[in-house]
Amino acid sequence: MSETLVVVGSQWGDEGKGKITDYFATRADMVVRYQGGNNAGHTVVFGGNKYSLQSIPSGIFNPKTVNVMGNGMVVNPVSVIAELEKLHDRGITDYQLFISTRAAMVMPWHSVLDGAYEAGLGNALIGTTKKGIGPAYSDKYSRIGLRMGDLLEPDYFRERLDAALAVKNRELEMLGLPTFDPQQVFDQYMELAKVLGPMITDTSRMVNDALNTPDKRVLFEGAQGMMLCIEHGTYPYVTSSSPSASSVPVGAGIAPKWVRNAIGVAKAYCTRVGSGPFPTELFDEIGDGIRERGHEYGTVTGRPRRIGWFDAVVGRYTAELGGLSHWAVMLLDVLSGLDTIKICVAYDLDGKQIQSPPSTIASLARCKPVYIEMPGWTEDITGIKEFDKLPENAKAYVRKLEEVTGVPVGMISVGPDREQTIIVDPELNNF
Ligand code: IMP
Repeated sequence: MSETLVVVGSQWGDEGKGKITDYFATRADMVVRYQGGNNAGHTVVFGGNKYSLQSIPSGIFNPKTVNVMGNGMVVNPVSVIAELEKLHDRGITDYQLFISTRAAMVMPWHSVLDGAYEAGLGNALIGTTKKGIGPAYSDKYSRIGLRMGDLLEPDYFRERLDAALAVKNRELEMLGLPTFDPQQVFDQYMELAKVLGPMITDTSRMVNDALNTPDKRVLFEGAQGMMLCIEHGTYPYVTSSSPSASSVPVGAGIAPKWVRNAIGVAKAYCTRVGSGPFPTELFDEIGDGIRERGHEYGTVTGRPRRIGWFDAVVGRYTAELGGLSHWAVMLLDVLSGLDTIKICVAYDLDGKQIQSPPSTIASLARCKPVYIEMPGWTEDITGIKEFDKLPENAKAYVRKLEEVTGVPVGMISVGPDREQTIIVDPELNNF
């Protein structure tokens, strides 16, 4: 029987999925991205070097691992090539990467429109990464999108391109923006196809073959976080795909029966970038301290992240949606030195306590966190490798997170390096 594992962000993104995926990717035969695009920023640190990935799966550093960009992604060929060039410059040249023929393609007008839609929202702007993710998914669902496999069939690509630009150029004109010349785009994309063509294939076939091979280990790498899910997140302040483990079958082209174990990656506190209500947000020097100690600045946009206490309302909600078997608690070391640490266990909405997030951001904005307080610790924990060696108060904090979310903590990260990882539940080493 093959082993599968889903790594999924359980807050508002940036939880440290890159590190956890990389941890397991070192033993995975295959790593599959199933949603999102180059709006993600996955940081992987090993051997004293730091690497940033946007759309390429985190298994790229292991030459034996097959990396798949699944059909559920939106793929920007220009940015994939730029990402690969950066990896080549750092000596990462021995890898296996495949892109689904069915993945939606991000075209140059998508990022232009992303910026224009945001500008049109004034103060209500979403704060997108401006990578064209929303417009690319919109065109996919409006059935005027291009797909990566179209690049392999130039005549068909040209047909689809003309049809798309007939609509898109009209929209761009209405917005007073420059239009695109089909011939120029065609020529540019045929050049890109020369580089990426050999990687574009039926990845669903590849993933199913791996799943049907005994002892193969297949890792599914979620991007963003479940609170940014287009279905279940803080709509409209969300991304345009569903990072949840429930998206894996559709976005990878496999049956639901293969999705068995899901690790929810969550910081020991919360962060979010972009706009939208954030009940446990800190506006004081405690938040500033966490931002500096945790280097909480976006890997894609460089924006300072908003900081808040751990939100167990969100934790319970995402645990349920994601079918989480374990938490990976990230950046626990960043909380060292605080006298008191708070955990939000419920929301007060208009005088009534509620246990899960309301569906509208209007209500969420009125939610006041109900906190419990835990005593902090002062010790530096960045070199600790075993749970039992953590300070008593740090252990109590972790155990409390388990209690208030109902999900066991399987691993803890106490620093950016692969080595700075504490395995709490040895069962995780079975993957
Ligand atoms: P988009 O995905 O670029 O459309 O942006 C929509 C929202 O999702 C914005 O609030 C972004 O900041 C947020 N977002 C998108 N990708 C990530 C990510 O990888 N980490 C954190 N936030 C993200």
